Parts: sequence; C-alpha cells; structure tokens
Amino acid sequence: MSAKIIDGKIIAADLRARVAGEVARVKREHGLTPGLAVVLVGSDPASEVYVRTKAKQTEAAGMASFEYKLAADTPQTDLLALIAKLNADASVHGILVQLPLPAGLDSQAVINAIDPAKDVDGLNPINAGRLATGLPALTPCTPLGCIILAKTVHASLEGMNAVVIGRSNLVGRPLVQLLLNENATVTIAHSRTRDLAGICRQADLVLAAVGRPEMVKGSWIKPGATVIDVGINRIPGADGKSRLVGDVAYQEALEIAGAITPVPGGVGQMTVACLLVNTLRAACAIRRLQAPGV
Ligand code: GUN
Repeated sequence: MSAKIIDGKIIAADLRARVAGEVARVKREHGLTPGLAVVLVGSDPASEVYVRTKAKQTEAAGMASFEYKLAADTPQTDLLALIAKLNADASVHGILVQLPLPAGLDSQAVINAIDPAKDVDGLNPINAGRLATGLPALTPCTPLGCIILAKTVHASLEGMNAVVIGRSNLVGRPLVQLLLNENATVTIAHSRTRDLAGICRQADLVLAAVGRPEMVKGSWIKPGATVIDVGINRIPGADGKSRLVGDVAYQEALEIAGAITPVPGGVGQMTVACLLVNTLRAACAIRRLQAPGV
C-alpha cells in the first residue's frame, strides 16, 4: 500500500492564512504591524531566491518586510553595526541573517549579536539554551515545521520512537528538543552512528536532516512509519537537467511508510510559514501582548 503524502504546500498555506488573520487582529486591536528584517550578504543565487520568497510572503501576511542586501566583502564590523541598528529599531520585531555567510565573516558572532527577543531563527545561544531547558523560546523554523507536519498525522507524538538523523544547530539539535517537549522518545543519529538502518527500523517517526541525497533507503523504514524528509539536494537527472531529491529514497519509502513528506512540496514549504509565525510571536512578546493563537 502506498503511504499518505503529507502535503506541505497546503499545510503551509493554511498556516500563512492563520498568521495573516492574527496579524490583521493585532493591527486592528493594538496598532501593531509586525516587522521582519532579512539580511543577505553576498549574492548566492539560492539564498537570493529564499530571501525574495521570505519578503513576498511576509508582505502577503500583512507584515512589514525590510530587506538589507550587503556586498560579499562587507566587513564584520559593518554587519554588526547593522544588527545593532535593527536591534534598536522599534518597527523591527524579527531579524534573520541568511546563512551561510560569505567566507571571512564570523556567523556565530553575528548570531550572538541579534537581540534574543528578535531572533526569529532561534539560533542565538540564549534561545537554543531556553529550548534545551524547556523554557519558552523562539525556535528554529524548519524543526518547528517538521513538528507541525508530524502532528497532522499524529494528534500526539507522546511515547513515539522518533529517530532524528543529523545534529546541525539549524535543524537536528533543535528538532530533538522539540520532540522531547512533545514527549517522544528520541534517538539522535549522525554520520558516526553505527547500524543506522537497524536504528531507523525501530522508528515510528523518521526525521532525516543530513543533506545526503536519498541516503535513507526504503528497506530502513518500519512498515507504517511516518517519514519527515528535511533534505533538499540537487542531483543530475536522467534528462541532463538537475532535479531536487530529499535525504530519503522517496519512491522506495512511499511503498512502506504510513505517511511521508515529498521533496519538493514537504518541509521546505513550512520553513517560511514558521518564520512568519515566529515574527508574529516575537512582535506580540516585545509589545507584552498575549501570545497569538497560531
Ligand atoms: N539558510 C537556509 N535555511 C536557513 C534558515 O532557516 N535560516 C537562515 N538564517 N539561513 C538559512
């Protein structure tokens, strides 16, 4: 039997619509227009596409979008000065610095400089630490999207055996913390893990975030398990053009899993939608309003 396909496009559109509804309400009731500043350094084509999408969807949700495009050779001090200006700007509630930064810039120092209250990427060590200690925090957008997708299949993740493959600060590590908050039993696997196939076969929920095309094979999936594929890998196609694939061998897994996210059209759609959620939440928290209903 073929797995249920988790349609990230529809779920993300629904989430964006709910954010837009809440934005309209806080504008009407409190005169608050949430604002998101996105900083792009250099001209990496993939990053330019992401930044354009973020700006378009921010405006479509009724929020203010501020874009800063800096030259690849921008000095660290100039970038830090921009962050300080945005930290002090009352119309900016969220700050996102597109990663990776060009060589020569210190990403961690830049992330550390972002006001934790405006850190909509959830990458500042204050937010990462708050998440890890179970305190309320702004949390990274892609892991947040993974949890929302998993919960469209399972109303509760409590007690499930979840295997996270990958331990990056952007996805794997925060995903582990969010799953723990949902009372899942979490195994963290990575490039040095022994018998990854055997570990995956125990999982009710497989979340793959390694950045290796089609590494997780269909035979690694427990029949009926839910598969969330975070990978977005460009590989050469049979027709000479490139195509996008995830970290999971989709066609194989589709026959065995109970539910699965496609690539594209799965997790990728959720990241920007969750960025809008975080910007709205940050704006409400900064203005000391009740947390929004999304
Ligand atoms: N580059 C790719 N994904 C992300 C993300 O979620 N946040 C930032 N800041 N940069 C990224």
